[in-house]
Amino acid sequence: MNKFQRRKLNSLFKNNKAWAEKMTQEDPNFFSHLSKQQHPDYLWIGCSDSRVPANQVIDLKPGEVFVHRNIANVVVHTDLNCLSVIQYAVNVLEVQHIIVCGHYGCGGVKAAFEGHEHGLIDNWLRHIKDVYRLHKNEIDAEATEQKRINLLCEKNVIEQVANVCHTSIVQRAWKKNKDLTVHGWIYSIEDGLLKALGTEISESDQINEIHMLKGN
Ligand code: CO
Repeated sequence: MNKFQRRKLNSLFKNNKAWAEKMTQEDPNFFSHLSKQQHPDYLWIGCSDSRVPANQVIDLKPGEVFVHRNIANVVVHTDLNCLSVIQYAVNVLEVQHIIVCGHYGCGGVKAAFEGHEHGLIDNWLRHIKDVYRLHKNEIDAEATEQKRINLLCEKNVIEQVANVCHTSIVQRAWKKNKDLTVHGWIYSIEDGLLKALGTEISESDQINEIHMLKGN
């Protein structure tokens, strides 16, 4: 690491100190209160893209949103990381809303759409190719490549919302009559605005019967 890089890194600690002071000035009990508990109402499942930071785009403070991010906001049935986050959020924190938030121009979605080889990550992106396959006719009918990729970004969110709902974690919560809604949103990096994609699932009757858990 050269001097310049060291200085840049040190500035992060300076930023942190200034931020902690500002938060304490606004509310002297902010950190002592937070250190005892967290009560977020929301679980955010979003893309790792540095331009889509969960807390900032919905203007929430530390403690107000539980966050899981990965490339292209994918919810894979065997991803123990994501499933553990959902389990903790639903069963322990008892969040009332799970928000799957994608974004237009997502690099992961674009890479899956284009199909060039990128190594290990291709295994992850293959889940998005599955989404493309399911909606290929509709997506290919769009006039430009940018529009096709953006529609795939939307379809990906809707599929991942379904994947969240298909987990036994969410279905068990509904069986226990817990108030839990799964939402699909998309964010535009160009204007900083969020859009709801009209998918809001709050009971098992709304999911495909193939995925419904039978019995108690
Ligand atoms: Co992305």
